[in-house]
Amino acid sequence: MKAIAVNPTQRTVRLVGHADPGDPGSGQVRLKMRRVGICGTDREIAHFEYGTPPERGGYLILGHEGLAEIEAVGEAVSKMKPGDLVVPMVRRPCSHEKCRSCRAGRQDFCFTGDFVECGIKGAHGFMAEAGLDEPAYLVPVPASLAEFGVLVEPLSIAEKALEQVWQVQQRLPWSCDPREDRQRAWCHRAVVLGAGPIGLLGAMAMVAAGFETFVYSREPADSSRAELVRRFDARYISSTDVPIEALAEQLGEIDVVYEATGASSLAFAAVERLGINGVFVLTGVPAEKAPEAVESARIMRRLVLQNQVIFGTVNAGRGAHERAVEDLRRFADRWPDALRGLITTRIGLEQVPDALAAPGQGIKTVIEIAA
Ligand code: BGC
Ligand code: ZN
Repeated sequence: MKAIAVNPTQRTVRLVGHADPGDPGSGQVRLKMRRVGICGTDREIAHFEYGTPPERGGYLILGHEGLAEIEAVGEAVSKMKPGDLVVPMVRRPCSHEKCRSCRAGRQDFCFTGDFVECGIKGAHGFMAEAGLDEPAYLVPVPASLAEFGVLVEPLSIAEKALEQVWQVQQRLPWSCDPREDRQRAWCHRAVVLGAGPIGLLGAMAMVAAGFETFVYSREPADSSRAELVRRFDARYISSTDVPIEALAEQLGEIDVVYEATGASSLAFAAVERLGINGVFVLTGVPAEKAPEAVESARIMRRLVLQNQVIFGTVNAGRGAHERAVEDLRRFADRWPDALRGLITTRIGLEQVPDALAAPGQGIKTVIEIAA
């Protein structure tokens, strides 16, 4: 079968012929891959800056944002059937008995670091025509979401972040929880840093959860991204109009910042704009660079005197994937055009090596593997 493989030793990214996975074992299912999204992580792996093949010196099949159709099921599989759509989860547990998270199915919080991630670290990914998997790692997606199901994985990152925001804020009377009281929408103000797929999907989730949501990014206020933001009832602020230092004066108290740029200096400048009792979520993974000065005393002083929390978050558990499926359904009802606008390029497997070599264009590129 055809697959996209990165070989870090030979420094190649190629369409290869990979052995067909064959029939599913008793507890397995055979997947026909329908679509796979490309993200920044794939670009880094394709530039040999990240990523680990399953065997030393071998290649890694790329792809972690998948949407697949079940083609066949093993005899012990009862809850899934051929034709069902699923999203395969990226991270798989480590094997250490002592890892409480992995043993509890929360490998997104793995303690040992010995987890694997399909298409990223130690396990093949989804840019292939077929694969074998187990129901424990597959999230069902309704047929009505065939078009957008490929966005479940990137959205699951935001869902996990939001879940933690609610958990953290249980430390205080964060009274107007809009999930309980939709009449009191806009009781919390959120700023999303960055208008890439993670930022935009995160912003949609925040609007849907009742936040007054602002997306802050470098594209001008009359750009197509800004237009897309307005289409899903968030507001757009361009860094060319409002410097980060002026953000709080412009907006008022900021309750949540959701960082989705990976730009560390912007992030630390934004930390100083966070409001009283606020929560700052980091999701971007910056490349290493030379040390930079930050106002550590000023930041620490505000963190303490204003009860603020900063946390980082990676990957997502099953619950967050399931909420991503529910939210995508809502988004598809409420803002179908905005959702469609996120997927700006569609290509075939053959075009992936060139697409990964070229600088990223548009918002989300999706590989169409099978209809
Ligand atoms: C993926 C996550 C993964 C992370 C770190 C991201 O691009 O969406 O699932 O955990 O990279 O490897
Ligand atoms: Zn990703």
